[in-house]
Amino acid sequence: MKILLLGSGGREHAMAWKISQSPKCDKLYIAPGNAGTIGCGENVPIKADDFNAIREFTLQNGIGMVVVGPEDPLVKGIYDFFKADPDLCRVPVIGPSKAGATLEGSKDFAKAFMLRHNIPTAAYRTFTGETLEEGKAFLRTLKAPYVLKADGLCAGKGVLILPTLEEAEKELEEMLSGMFGGASSRVVIEEFMSGIECSVFVLTDGRNYKILPEAKDYKRIGEGDTGLNTGGMGSVSPVPFATKEWMEKVENRIIRPTVEGLAAEGICYKGFIFFGLINVDGEPKVIEYNCRMGDPETETVMLRIKSDLVDLLEGVAEGNLNERTLTFDERSAVCVMLVSGGYPGAYQKGFEITGISDIKNPDSVVFHAGTAQKDGKTVTAGGRVIAVSSYGATQAEALKKSMTEAVKIVFEGRYFRHDIGQDLLK
Ligand code: AMP
Ligand code: GLY
Repeated sequence: MKILLLGSGGREHAMAWKISQSPKCDKLYIAPGNAGTIGCGENVPIKADDFNAIREFTLQNGIGMVVVGPEDPLVKGIYDFFKADPDLCRVPVIGPSKAGATLEGSKDFAKAFMLRHNIPTAAYRTFTGETLEEGKAFLRTLKAPYVLKADGLCAGKGVLILPTLEEAEKELEEMLSGMFGGASSRVVIEEFMSGIECSVFVLTDGRNYKILPEAKDYKRIGEGDTGLNTGGMGSVSPVPFATKEWMEKVENRIIRPTVEGLAAEGICYKGFIFFGLINVDGEPKVIEYNCRMGDPETETVMLRIKSDLVDLLEGVAEGNLNERTLTFDERSAVCVMLVSGGYPGAYQKGFEITGISDIKNPDSVVFHAGTAQKDGKTVTAGGRVIAVSSYGATQAEALKKSMTEAVKIVFEGRYFRHDIGQDLLK
C-alpha cells in the first residue's frame, strides 16, 4: 500500500520511521515532511492543510491511506473532505471527522462532552463578552490559581494560569476582547488541579480501541521545569506512576466513556485520541483532549510500539481494530529535544547542523523536528530542531544514551535539557 503522511515535525518523522518499517507499506510519501523524513520516504511539497493539492496527489499516485499528523487539517475537516468526494471517499483517512476534532478545536465542547459522559475533569463554566461580569463573579467563587482557556485553537498558547484574582479578571477581560482573535471570543474558566501530568494515547476505529504506550512530556525550557513554556523539550515512556491499577481507572473512567460517548453521539472518530491527564491524589482527571498524537511524546511512544503500526491503522480503517495485535517494547524510551538558542523567544534559523551521521548507537534514533535541506546541507528551520530518542533497560539509562548522542549533534546556539524524566525517579 502507498501511504501519504501529512505534517512536518518530530512527531511526523517518528511516525514515518515506524510506518516505513512495515512490510505493508510499499511506498511512503510525507507532505511536506522535513530533512529527516527523506530517510523514510519521499517528501512532497504540499502543505498539510492544502486539501485540493492533497486530493490531486492522492488520486494521481494511487494513495491507499492518508495518515494525519497535526490537528490543523483535522479541525479544518480533512476527513469529511475525503468522505464527501466521490473519487476520494474510498481512501481511508486516519484521523477524526471535523466533529470529532472539535474535542481539541473547542475547549467548551470538550468540557460539555465530559460533563455529559461523566468523565472526571475540573469543574468549569464558559463565558463570552456578554457574560463578562458573570465570569468575574465566577472567578470570585474559585481559589487561586485561576485557569483561563481560550475556547479555540491558539497554537498551544491559549491557556493562562494566574496567581491572583486581580490578574485573572484583567486577563479574562482581555481574552474576551480579542487577545487571541476569534479563538478567545469564548473563555472557559476552570478549577485548578494540582498533580503530575501524563499523556495517554488511544487508537480507535470508532468502536474498538487500543491503548498505546503512555508518555510524559516536559514543556518548560529550563531544567527543573522552570522558565517559559515550549512546544516540548523531551519525553519519557513509560511513566512510572501510570501503574496497571491507575491505567485501569483511566480506561474505565475516561477512555471507554469517551469512545462510547463519541459513538453514542454519532460522531465519527477513526484515529488517535490524546488524553492529557493529571494525577490528582491517585485519581486520573482529564485536562484536555487532542485529536492527534503528542509532540514530543510520539518520539518515545513509537519506539515502544513493537507491532506493525500499519496493521493497526488498517484495523482503524476497516473497523476491526479488535482483531489486530498491539505489543509493547518493555524497555524505557527517553527523548531529548535539541532547540535553537533563544527559543521559545526569538531565534535565528538556517544554521548548519553537523554530527548527525556520528550517531551509531543502535539504541538511539534521531528524529528531525525543525530542519531543512539547503545547498546539500541540513540546516535549522525551527525552534525545536532535533529529537534524540533512546532505548534503555531503565529510564536513567535511556536518558544517558540520549544525552551522550545529543552532544554529538552541533549547531550554533544548540540547547537541551539534561533532566528529562528525572523528577519521576525521585
Ligand atoms: P491545555 O492546553 O488545556 O493542555 O493546558 C495547557 C497546560 O496548562 C496543561 O498542560 C497544564 O499544565 C495546565 N493546565 C490546564 N488546565 C489546568 C487545570 N485545570 N489545572 C491545572 N493545570 C492546568
Ligand atoms: N506535547 C503536547 C502536545 O503535543 O500537545
